[in-house]
Amino acid sequence: MKRIGVFTSGGDSPGMNACLRAVVRSGIAAGLEVFGIYRGYEGMIEGDIVQFEKHHVSNIIQRGGTVLKTARSAKFMTPEGRREAHANLLKHGIEGLVCIGGDGSFRGAMTLHEEFGIKVMGCPGTIDNDLFGTDYTIGFDSAINTVVTAVDKIRDTADSHNRLFFVEVMGRDAGFIALHTGIASGAESVLIPETKTYIPELIQQLEKGWRQNKTSAIIIVAEGDDGGGAYEVAEKVKEKFNKYDTRVSVLGHIQRGGAPSAFDRVSASRMGAAAVKGLLEGRTNEMAGIINRQIVYTPFSKATKHNQEINPQLLELVEILSQ
Ligand code: F6P
Repeated sequence: MKRIGVFTSGGDSPGMNACLRAVVRSGIAAGLEVFGIYRGYEGMIEGDIVQFEKHHVSNIIQRGGTVLKTARSAKFMTPEGRREAHANLLKHGIEGLVCIGGDGSFRGAMTLHEEFGIKVMGCPGTIDNDLFGTDYTIGFDSAINTVVTAVDKIRDTADSHNRLFFVEVMGRDAGFIALHTGIASGAESVLIPETKTYIPELIQQLEKGWRQNKTSAIIIVAEGDDGGGAYEVAEKVKEKFNKYDTRVSVLGHIQRGGAPSAFDRVSASRMGAAAVKGLLEGRTNEMAGIINRQIVYTPFSKATKHNQEINPQLLELVEILSQ
């Protein structure tokens, strides 16, 4: 293998640039020519491909977002779109790819391998932390730090006004961001898609807090929770329990931006270099993740199909610590 391509795809996450830098620099160090593919599969179809030298990735390790840009491509879902993408890879002599993204991006990579035999490795880039085969995805740590900073601020005003706040966080259909930020910000309760939400139980808990003279409360609601988003849950609670003045805050895309944490930069650098190493060893269709501090390669089929499990001890901890 002489030439490889790298692209970022799906929702961006802080640390993608650090991962890109690692792919480019470790690839060049191993004697490869490395091509940056802009705007994910969309840029692959349109031939938006540029050879990267070491200096192309200077001064990006500290930057959020992705300098390669990203996109969700509808055209890549069609056989014609994929043929065009493959033709562009052939034109540049690209024999291997590193895909930095989440499960949808990996599924695209698997199809590319199936149809054209191109070797593909992945690095888990998503704030959601929902991929099986890695303890942490690139961007998760930065995102939870952003959420915690925001919730600390919300707590100040909640406390001043004796208010109950429902704070909605991202995560699509996974509750990792909610659970971790709930613990780190000392939330009264955390509502996540992985467990059934019982509004009467939540009200009971709030009533108990009220009786114990808690003057304010924070409930973290994962956007994918079965009880609905923060607005819906707040309405349901207000109907039966109105001791506190209630407010809702949806944190939204600030969770995806900002400088990556040191943890994300290190993980992303390790994973990027490991993906290149994997390609050089002849691996394909695998994600380079980190489990128990070691690089582990997990087949895309497992990384995307199996759910990363919520640690029940963390759920228990939220309950104990919020009393
Ligand atoms: O997968 C990352 C993520 O930020 C999810 O947490 C969220 O549900 C989704 O992307 C939002 O996507 P978009 O930026 O397309 O609105």
